[in-house]
Amino acid sequence: MTNKINLAEKFTLFSEQWRPKTIAAANGQEIKIVKVCGEFPWHHHAGADEFFMVWKGRFRVEFRDRIVEMGPGECVVVPRGVEHRTGADDKAEVILIEPAGTLNTGNVEDAEFTASVEWRSRTASAPFEHCTRIFSEIDNQRVHRRYIL
Ligand code: NI
Repeated sequence: MTNKINLAEKFTLFSEQWRPKTIAAANGQEIKIVKVCGEFPWHHHAGADEFFMVWKGRFRVEFRDRIVEMGPGECVVVPRGVEHRTGADDKAEVILIEPAGTLNTGNVEDAEFTASVEWRSRTASAPFEHCTRIFSEIDNQRVHRRYIL
């Protein structure tokens, strides 16, 4: 897929928080965008590194021994197996890159934050040219699928 992707535009297509939307895929990794405010549960990913980059606002990744605070254009990699939680005191917009199929809460099952099995099992080969339609259908249903923008 060689169409241009406009991040600012993508961020206008949703308002819910803590539900990453896939905007592109490359080499088995998914590039996702997410809006956040508040605090995510502690967790780790046994087999996946996670890359976070701030697009707007202030965002932090907390580790057990320190906190990484970031603003727009700043990024961090969370190594696989390392316990972490993300957070923002005010609304923030973040880009993340991780292997397709990575569960958002890692090793933890959280009633509020964990994506459903259905959401996880979607393949990475979803047709991006139909993104807008898929997104609006899913948004209407308010189910936890793997969102494609
Ligand atoms: Ni994580």
